[in-house]
Amino acid sequence: MPLMKAVQVGSPRADFDLVHKEIPEPKGNEIRIRVEACGVCHGDALVKEGNFPGLQYPRVPGHEVVGIVDKLGANAAVDFQVGQRVGVGWYGGPCLKCSACKRGDLGRCENILATGISFDGGYAEYMVAPMQAFVRVPDEISPREAAPLLCAGRTTYDALRNSGARGGDLVAVLGMGGLGHLALQFARKFGCKTVALSRGKDKEKLAYQLGAHVYIDTETANPGDELRKLGGARVILATAPNGKAISDVIGGLGNEGQLCLLAMQSEPIQVSPFQLARGGRSIHGSMGRSIGNTMGDTLNFSVLSGVRPMIEVFPLEQASLAYEKMMSARVHFRAVLVTGTPSA
Ligand SMILES: NC(=O)c1ccc[n+]([C@@H]2O[C@H](COP(=O)([O-])OP(=O)(O)OC[C@H]3O[C@@H](n4cnc5c(N)ncnc54)[C@H](OP(=O)(O)O)[C@@H]3O)[C@@H](O)[C@H]2O)c1
Ligand SMILES: [Zn+2]
Repeated sequence: MPLMKAVQVGSPRADFDLVHKEIPEPKGNEIRIRVEACGVCHGDALVKEGNFPGLQYPRVPGHEVVGIVDKLGANAAVDFQVGQRVGVGWYGGPCLKCSACKRGDLGRCENILATGISFDGGYAEYMVAPMQAFVRVPDEISPREAAPLLCAGRTTYDALRNSGARGGDLVAVLGMGGLGHLALQFARKFGCKTVALSRGKDKEKLAYQLGAHVYIDTETANPGDELRKLGGARVILATAPNGKAISDVIGGLGNEGQLCLLAMQSEPIQVSPFQLARGGRSIHGSMGRSIGNTMGDTLNFSVLSGVRPMIEVFPLEQASLAYEKMMSARVHFRAVLVTGTPSA
């Protein structure tokens, strides 16, 4: 059997292993792609650190994957053809086992699969996923720039467009990482007044280049006070995975303001009922598991508006380095793994 390179995690908190394993065969409704690029998302920590209940190891992480359709399963030939460029994000398709799937209502699947969690993901030369997980990638975007749009992009784009924020509203983004730097660009293209909140001065210049009207260094200023001075935020998109950092911005919500929790950290956040009740403020979460063409919409909006991720490219073999840089917030702003030798 032909072999491929893949980077996998053997058990919770184990090091990444570069292995040679069999190229997977697509069955039934599955599609196999030759991976061109895969973003390194903070969500991959669920695999690396073992924080996803029931996850089976070894597992190849990676859920921001772009590649070329290479082989179709026997029932997968409806929408896709060999040679097409496609992408797959966190949504890994329906389980095909629950009662909703059995009656053909795949959109109401009760156990949606997650790419790089329920099955092996894109830290590899090839991967296989159900056809429902894929979206076509427009020619206008390179594979390595498209990859981060499939999770970091679609998560923030969807949260923003569902938040009700309109042109002129104050939108603040907490955390300038993979999600945050795209959220900032989307908000700017939506015509909002944008505030970037980040620790220290390191990312200030780039945040302005990406479209921030205002930059707040959360190490030297109280973010709640600063946002209130600006009139209070209509929407705060919280991408920093830290309970205290999120708690500290809640006071910066304006009347009818909404805190949207995108970061997935397990520690609690602190809020007093008074902070919310006064002015009708609210908090809600948003997770990239919704079905629908949000990935396609994100790609299309990005083509139309010129939004692109700022990326650092690593060869697949350096997945461990890319992950460590991401976890220590030193990537500007999304690490992307590529197969073969990365060109400049
Ligand atoms: N809801 C969803 O569907 C969804 C989808 C994808 C990811 N996520 C989650 O969203 C979060 C962000 O993901 P990402 O890929 O953007 O991560 P990332 O690239 O690592 O960026 C996170 C940013 O948060 C800030 N940060 C990190 N640790 C912090 C701390 N201890 N205190 C304060 N700020 C801190 C840093 O920004 P500064 O350096 O600017 O402070 C960092 O760049 C993760 O929790 C991830 O699991 C959720
Ligand atoms: Zn992700």
